[in-house]
Parts: sequence; C-alpha cells; structure tokens
Amino acid sequence: MTLRVRIHSLLDPASDGHAARRIRGFEVALILVGISSVSAGTVDGLSPEARLLAALVTGVVAALFFAEYLALWVAPENPHLHHSSPANARMRWVLSAEGIIDLLAVLPAVAVAYGGARLGAESASVFVLLWVLKLATHAQGAGLIARVFHNERSALSAAAALFLIVLFSAATIAHWLEAERQPEHFGSIPASLWWAVVTLTTTGYGDVVPLSAAGRMLGGLVMLCGICVLALLAGILANGFAAEVRRREFVRIWELVARVPFFADTGAIAISDIVDRLRSRSYPGGATVIRKGAAGDSMFFIVSGEVEVRVGERTLELRDGDFFGEMALLDRKPRSADVTALSPLTVLVLNVADFYQLAGQQPKLIAAIEAEAVRRRSTDLQAPA
Ligand code: CMP
Repeated sequence: MTLRVRIHSLLDPASDGHAARRIRGFEVALILVGISSVSAGTVDGLSPEARLLAALVTGVVAALFFAEYLALWVAPENPHLHHSSPANARMRWVLSAEGIIDLLAVLPAVAVAYGGARLGAESASVFVLLWVLKLATHAQGAGLIARVFHNERSALSAAAALFLIVLFSAATIAHWLEAERQPEHFGSIPASLWWAVVTLTTTGYGDVVPLSAAGRMLGGLVMLCGICVLALLAGILANGFAAEVRRREFVRIWELVARVPFFADTGAIAISDIVDRLRSRSYPGGATVIRKGAAGDSMFFIVSGEVEVRVGERTLELRDGDFFGEMALLDRKPRSADVTALSPLTVLVLNVADFYQLAGQQPKLIAAIEAEAVRRRSTDLQAPA
C-alpha cells in the first residue's frame, strides 16, 4: 500500500477503521478547542497571559488545519475522482464544498502569519463561524437532515405557504386596525410585518403591541395560528425523520441479511417481511450472548464472527450464516446451553413476538429452523451430560 493510499484511508470520512475513527475524533476535538480559544479571546477583561494563551492555541489549531488541507495531495485516491488525472482530481477536490470549507478554515493560519499581532480578537472571531462550518462537515446526521428536507419538500412548502398566508393577512389586518394609533409601527404593511412575524412565531418581544381591542383579539388569534403552524412543521419533520431512519435501517439490515446463506432461497417479498423484524447487534470477543437457564426472548443469525455453544461438557462452534437461540422459542423452555462469542460478533436478532408472527406468515422458513432444532436436540440428548 502506497503512502498516498494509506493517508487517504486514514482521512476518508467513509473509512471505518480504528485509526481513521480516532483521527476524526481528534479533528472534532481540535475544532471545539479552536472555537473555544477564539471565543475566549473575545471576552473583555481577560488577563494578557490568558489572551496570549488563547491566541497561541488558535494559531496551533489553525496551523494543524493548514497541514490537513495539504492532504489534498491524496485526492486522486478518492473513488469518485479515480477517473480524473491527479492534477484534475486535486483541483476538483479544491472546488468541492468540502474543499472550500477546509480552505476557509485554514484562512486563520494565513491571517495569523501575515497579520501577526495586528490580528485582533474581534477580527479573529469571524473564524469561529468558519470552524463551526467545518464541524458541520463532520456531523454524520447532516446528510440525513438534508434528505429529510428533500423528501418532505412538498409538505414543508404547503406549511410554509400557510405560514406566509397567515403572516401577510395578520400584517394587513393589523395595519387597518392600528395604523391611526401607532403609525410608526403599523403605518404600512411592511412595517406591520415585524409585529406579525414576532407574534406568529410566538416570540413576543413586546416592543410593538396592538392597542385597540380588535387589534389585541387579532394578536391572540395570530398566536394560536402560530402554534398550529409550528406544530404542523414539527410533525412533518418528526415524521420525515422517522421514515428516513426506518428506510436507512431497512437497507442496512437488508445488506446484512444478504450475507446470511440461510435466507438465500427466500423470495424478495418474504425477505422484506423478515428484514422489517430484524435488528443488528454486535458483541466483543469473549462476551456471553446466551446464558443456560435464562428465559429465551430472541433468536440470532450470525452475520460475521464465531460463537461457542457449550452443552454440558461438550462444546461446538457456529459461524457466519448459522443461527442459534431458536430452541427456547420453539420449546418455550429456558435456554438449553451457554453461547459465547469467540471473536467480534455481529448478529441479526429476531425477538420472540416477531418469531411467532413470522411462523404464521413464513411457515417454510420456521419449518427449516425447526428441523435444525430437532437435529440439535437429538445430538444433545445423545451426548454425555
Ligand atoms: P436455546 O436453547 O434457545 O439457547 C442455547 C442455544 O444453543 C440453543 O437454543 C441452540 O440454538 C444452540 N444449541 C444447542 N445445542 C446445539 C447443538 N447441538 N448444535 C448447535 N447449536 C446448539
């Protein structure tokens, strides 16, 4: 592996390796330290030593971001840029949203280098904004939020239209009712909009208030409309989030199910029925997954890793594609053996309620599990206790 490939795999946001995750964690910590040091520099009455320390920390953080920016050298390793020449790949990365944000984040380093002591805390504070932006590129949920807004755009625009209708109606009626008494605040519809926005969003600064009885009644009505519109927006977004998270989880579990040979012959419709009911779970090597005698509340399909099943004095191993924990569910008895992870283990878990529902809907699948359970039971009975 060349140095360029190695550095790219460490810095790639999609990389799941231990070192890559540590570097990402370090970078987030660096951004937070940088934001804190720049913020601290804007506090009045800070001692000269503390101010110097804050400036020093800001400089170090900016210099580290500068070093990170130089890692654009590894851009040709990005799978999306593979088809471009190295120079082209670097240029495309520089012009990408991530490249521009990273460039903006290194500006403090350049400013510190050229501005030196003249760079006051106030002018440096603008970089807090740039570093907050950099933090956003690390937020794993940022893509999810964008997706939810995109999916729900028609419902959101309907709610936004409702908001605008109420806003302009409120501003117009308030102008009719209050213009004579308070021409400075309600003399025109645009002037009344400030009161309408503050009331509709239920912020209520109290700097502008209607004085006539009718104006106050209008204010109450606008507040109630505001609560309804905000509730509607919150409902749309909450629903959109839940649906998107469910969809992503479905795709993730679907991919895991595809790795379990037991489901290989199951048709697409049956699989989607099963995928909906499975949850993934991971165990470190050495962890006890099932304890003999415990109540059985779920069964497990191994996606990766090995487990050891201990039945009396006998031990046997199960690996990728095997399942376990079915006997307690079928027999409605306590667990018949101890099951321990021999290596880092990823399993798909099917809980007892879903197991019985699936038995009604996918009898063939449960029959295959039952046949294996019968075989296991007979070998366990033959084995010495
Ligand atoms: P359960 O009894 O729910 O919990 C312990 C699990 O160990 C059991 O289900 C089986 O899945 C598994 N097990 C028990 N005996 C054997 C065997 N002979 N071969 C493979 N797995 C077994």
